[in-house]
Amino acid sequence: MKVSSRSKTIPPSETLTVLEKVKYLMGQGRDVVRFDVGEPDLDTPVHIKDAAKKAMDEGYTHYVQSRGIPELRQAISEHVKEVLGLSVDPEREVIVTPGAKFALLASIMALAEEGDEVIILTPEWPTYKACVFMAGAKPVEVPTRPPYRLDEEALKQAINDRTKAIMINTPNNPTGGIMPEEDLKAIADLAVDHDLAVISDEIYKALLYDGRRHVSIATLPSMRERTVIVDGFSKTYAMTGWRLGWAIAPRQVVDVMVKIQQSSTTHPTAFVQVAGIAALKGSQSFVDDMVKEYDRRRRAMVKALSDIEGVNCPLPEGAFYVFPDFSELGLTSQELSERLLMEAYVSSIPGSVFGPGGEGKLRLAYTVSIDRILEGVKRIKAFVDRLRR
Ligand SMILES: Cc1ncc(COP(=O)(O)O)c(C=O)c1O
Repeated sequence: MKVSSRSKTIPPSETLTVLEKVKYLMGQGRDVVRFDVGEPDLDTPVHIKDAAKKAMDEGYTHYVQSRGIPELRQAISEHVKEVLGLSVDPEREVIVTPGAKFALLASIMALAEEGDEVIILTPEWPTYKACVFMAGAKPVEVPTRPPYRLDEEALKQAINDRTKAIMINTPNNPTGGIMPEEDLKAIADLAVDHDLAVISDEIYKALLYDGRRHVSIATLPSMRERTVIVDGFSKTYAMTGWRLGWAIAPRQVVDVMVKIQQSSTTHPTAFVQVAGIAALKGSQSFVDDMVKEYDRRRRAMVKALSDIEGVNCPLPEGAFYVFPDFSELGLTSQELSERLLMEAYVSSIPGSVFGPGGEGKLRLAYTVSIDRILEGVKRIKAFVDRLRR
């Protein structure tokens, strides 16, 4: 049977390729230090799990509204008001989705015509490109300056008559960079001038360090009506497996996303949505403690990596990744990642996977304990020292 030509444009998941090798090595009894995984190692807080169990017992086991249950949309609108300072109508401007990932796909499908161009500021999470392809549009990658600063000239050059939207992700996966407000303003001005939408993935907005504050581009003048905010529970509440996310968008865009959801996933699991209410309305002490723990790990990891000659590791501003530069070693990031895994049993994601600006770098997630971080970096150091000899 022949597969569609569109399906051939969807890039394979490089992360899964790494994962398969890691599983193979672990199956052989190897002790692999896992820096590849972009998910919290902490368990979902008990009060969130209890809310799901209770909801299941109370009958949240059938179909519900396809844009999400009203109580959760209400809780999301209150959360957005409190954290972003944005007033949104829970009836018409919020959709609850099975993870932020589906919100990204549905928003591009809602906005782009076949053949339209969608600009992605890079380094980028590779799923963006896949989503743009799946929606029948064309991704156009525009590099930022490290750690995630706008290159305004490059963005201007990339805009043409086919451009429909700009995708941004701050705090950024993989760099941990946060786009400053003046850069967001410059993007907003270009979006207004050229009548473009902005898809703003803000899934790491709770993971900020050194007293930084999250600013959503949707809060800038004239941007509310042209921004889709994508967010979710995976990272903030350690709920990756629950598959729960949301989007905030102008009502005509939400209406189309709801139609897409009705004809595909229907809605996220009903009792999981009730757990989402508990996450947003319950105690946030888990989040505060988690950020403090990641901060400790971030510092420990950067300090240890910076002690390795030939490695340049900037201190990330948010999220839970470091993006050190190994280019002095003269290996491609694919070669380096592969050799570190097979020779030192340390897993990583090659920087080249994240588009322009990633070559020579590795993404290392500090979603493991400080002991494991130090063990992993010790192995990286021994590997680099051997290579430099
Ligand atoms: C930038 C970014 N957006 C979205 C997601 C996915 O979120 P969800 O689990 O809600 O689909 C990830 C997960 O790695 C991510 O890194």
